[in-house]
Amino acid sequence: MSDDGYATLGRGYARLRRPDPRIARVIADALGPARSVLNVGAGAGSYEPAGRRVLAVEPSATMIAQRPEGSAPVVRAVAERLPVADRSFDAGLAVLTTHHWTDLAAGLAELRRVCGRQVVLTWDTAVSDRFWLVERYVPEMGRRERSLATLDAALDVLRGLGARPEVIPVPVPADCVDGFTGAYWRRPEAYLRPEVRAAMSGLTLLDQRYLATAMDRLADDLATGRWHDEHGHLLELDSIDLGYRLVTT
Ligand SMILES: C[S@@+](CC[C@H](N)C(=O)[O-])C[C@H]1O[C@@H](n2cnc3c(N)ncnc32)[C@H](O)[C@@H]1O
Repeated sequence: MSDDGYATLGRGYARLRRPDPRIARVIADALGPARSVLNVGAGAGSYEPAGRRVLAVEPSATMIAQRPEGSAPVVRAVAERLPVADRSFDAGLAVLTTHHWTDLAAGLAELRRVCGRQVVLTWDTAVSDRFWLVERYVPEMGRRERSLATLDAALDVLRGLGARPEVIPVPVPADCVDGFTGAYWRRPEAYLRPEVRAAMSGLTLLDQRYLATAMDRLADDLATGRWHDEHGHLLELDSIDLGYRLVTT
């Protein structure tokens, strides 16, 4: 993706992509005792921990403009060329961003050069492919995402760089407040709203006629009760594993 691939994608992002407190806790635990954190692909600042020295790195002016007043300082740069000195941060954080990088290996090598440990939130496409939205309505998104820099690629690169990454599953709460693609697994009607879909790059980057047909089918299945027949058992769950994984080194 170009430096400002989020110029259009990112409009209105901060309203729908707010940090979820349960996911924030998992991330804060993974950051451990780190007193300084470099947040790469920082967007509007979700999951930047309080009480630590934080510097955000973000290439998109549209995203930088949505950082709330009083949030951490930000430099406009890409993961592949971090404008910071070796070992200048205790930890590097990359939340749902590696799949946008033009060069995953270069970005993770930079993160290792600059930060003592790395904390990367991404996802396992082998699991996300089975999410009902992907499997039944937008398999094309699943196909596309299999070629992106997600879990397997990140693990390969980190191991190649000599790290021993650990992988922590990050379940998605039923009332997840961060509107990423899997957030509305128990609120299927939400996917019918264009403004909700606009905060999800996986759906936004699909052919929009294909997406419209898929959403018509979802609307129909919700109206006829077919969705509930097939997936109604999910309504009993409080959280679910959709493949989101936190990689820590
Ligand atoms: C889905 S958003 C995630 C933002 C934030 N981490 C969050 O959790 O809300 C992906 C972000 O990655 C940024 N990005 C895209 N290419 C990048 C690159 N090469 N290096 C660093 N960030 C990049 C985008 O501009 C966007 O802000």
